[in-house]
Amino acid sequence: MNFKIFFTLSIIFFAFIDKAYTLSKNEDLPIKNFDAVIVGSGPLGSTYARKLIEAGYKVAMVEVGESELNPPGLHLLNAYRRQVDPSTFDIKSQTIHFNQNPDQDPQLNLPSAAATYVVGGMGTHWGCVTPRLLGNERFSNLVPDDEMDKLYEEAETYLHTLQDPYNNTMLQTSVLKALKMRYDEEKSPRALPVAVRYEKGDNPDDMPFYFWTGSYDILRKENFENKNFVLIEQHLAQILQPKINNTSIIDGLIIKDLFKRSQNEILIKAKVFIICAGAVNTPQLLYNSMIKNSNWDIEIPALGKNLCDQTMVNCQIVLSKEIVEKMLEDPAWSEDVKKHKETYPNDPIPIPFGVPGPQFSIPYTDKRPWYCEVFRGSGDTYYINNRVTLGFNCYGAPQNSEELNNRVEFSKQNKDIYGMPQPTFYVRTSKKDAENYHKMFSDMTQTAFSMGGFLPGSEPTFLPPGYSLHMTGTVRMGTSKETSVVDTNLCVHGFRNLYLGTNGVIPTAITANPILTSVALAIKSANNIIKKLKGAFDF
Ligand SMILES: Cc1cc2nc3c(=O)[nH]c(=O)nc-3n(C[C@H](O)[C@H](O)[C@H](O)COP(=O)(O)OP(=O)(O)OC[C@H]3O[C@@H](n4cnc5c(N)ncnc54)[C@H](O)[C@@H]3O)c2cc1C
Ligand SMILES: *[C@@H]1O[C@H](CO)[C@@H](O)[C@H](O)[C@H]1NC(C)=O
Ligand SMILES: *[C@@H]1O[C@H](CO)[C@@H](O)[C@H](O)[C@H]1NC(C)=O
Ligand SMILES: *[C@@H]1O[C@H](CO)[C@@H](O)[C@H](O)[C@H]1NC(C)=O
Repeated sequence: MNFKIFFTLSIIFFAFIDKAYTLSKNEDLPIKNFDAVIVGSGPLGSTYARKLIEAGYKVAMVEVGESELNPPGLHLLNAYRRQVDPSTFDIKSQTIHFNQNPDQDPQLNLPSAAATYVVGGMGTHWGCVTPRLLGNERFSNLVPDDEMDKLYEEAETYLHTLQDPYNNTMLQTSVLKALKMRYDEEKSPRALPVAVRYEKGDNPDDMPFYFWTGSYDILRKENFENKNFVLIEQHLAQILQPKINNTSIIDGLIIKDLFKRSQNEILIKAKVFIICAGAVNTPQLLYNSMIKNSNWDIEIPALGKNLCDQTMVNCQIVLSKEIVEKMLEDPAWSEDVKKHKETYPNDPIPIPFGVPGPQFSIPYTDKRPWYCEVFRGSGDTYYINNRVTLGFNCYGAPQNSEELNNRVEFSKQNKDIYGMPQPTFYVRTSKKDAENYHKMFSDMTQTAFSMGGFLPGSEPTFLPPGYSLHMTGTVRMGTSKETSVVDTNLCVHGFRNLYLGTNGVIPTAITANPILTSVALAIKSANNIIKKLKGAFDF
């Protein structure tokens, strides 16, 4: 898009959004005396905001990015154009890579690690896959299983997770049946829980509509419009300030107005500060605060350490003729197939257009310690139709990042595009992990053959490190200050009112998609904050 048009559009949008504010030094905030300031408007910032607003507290949300849709923070895939023509949606084009860093050793880099700087964060274009952690992937020593299950339940309502939205649809049933034969009961492929609502109109020819959950849906309209909430967009959170005489309490945050292109710095005050800026930018803000405050005297030795990056293999499959033929002969779908043939006699593939793609997972087990997802393929090129293609991803996780000292560090000299300390990655793969990833690769290849053949050009391949954007561990949860950054309420060790909500708090290496788990932990954390704000116990 032409820059001028883009610029004009963003101003027009801006004028419509009455909940978003930009401020200059002489301007007053619409509300003062915040109970909580939240940095970041992604799924986790939105979770905290919802909890606190619903409990009656005054909340400011500071976001460096701008609003792309009105209302801001919706998933971009909800736009009609992107539903009818998915090729207009490039999921990775919305991200900015942590690159151009003179200190970065390319061998130790996560070249595909990225951040999305917009209102809604990565929640504007994420894949909406929301499984619970199973078995050994849980951290039951820190949060007991029964408590975690209750938190998961609440998190699933926040994300609008459906356990099996495509139950009893043609492709889901047929492909799942074919795949199940390959696996034992324990690792049986099953429906993938997704944060997507699927609606089909009464008319069989109607395009079904998929509502993808974005950060706005987590926050909810009534909270976004609540007079106790203000979204301060296009402002960079720069420096957290500890109280002069008691550094275990943060009492201010310096933010910078990027919209006005001014160097004006604004100090905002609150009782609680919650940083939800992503797994890299959250420790970045803490690091910057530490080096910019002469009175910051609480050390955070585990900051950026214990970084776990998932290793990802991806391919695209063209469904086997056998599966397609069996499906078309199955009496369960014969009515639909017949109708389709009547309406589109020239269509070589008589699969009704509205049928949702399959969505299922092959869960993690100790025996096969990786996690896989099957979903509708992108297909729809001139030679292949996406009704008969599948996407297939498998994720493995490092088992011993600690020994390898995998980490992200921040630079005192080099700055990122916003002038914040540049992150540098130090990530290696151990021999044992590499062996495991190759087992995963071969299992995946074999599994793929039970569904079909590879789409030419999309054979199984390891994706560049960082690609999954499921990084964990950078500010991990734990009981000791030496080996972790936050406690089980996600409060930073040594601080009384500084909380972190990010996938970075997940303490273990996990193979599954992380956000449901992080939302569950943020709910636990917000409950603790509310108790403190109510004065139930001392800050
Ligand atoms: C294409 C894609 C598909 C994905 N699919 C899945 C999936 O299916 N399942 C899953 O679990 N996860 C998935 N993810 C990952 C998921 O999107 C993230 O885990 C999730 O968005 C993290 O939420 P968050 O709130 O921690 O951070 P983010 O969504 O990254 O939001 C952080 C926000 O903080 C803002 N920010 C950063 N620094 C500052 C600062 N200094 N001042 C002010 N604001 C700041 C950023 O602009 C951003 O808006 C996917 C990601 C992508 C890109
Ligand atoms: C799927 O549909 C079948 C038959 O209608 C039903 O018995 C089953 O409970 C459904 N499963 C889920 C997870 O909704
Ligand atoms: C800090 O404590 C000193 C000595 O008790 C006191 O003189 C000073 O006013 C305090 N400063 C602030 C900002 O509270
Ligand atoms: C800091 O403030 C908290 C809460 O008011 C208090 O409990 C704590 O003792 C104070 N610490 C110091 C070093 O004064």
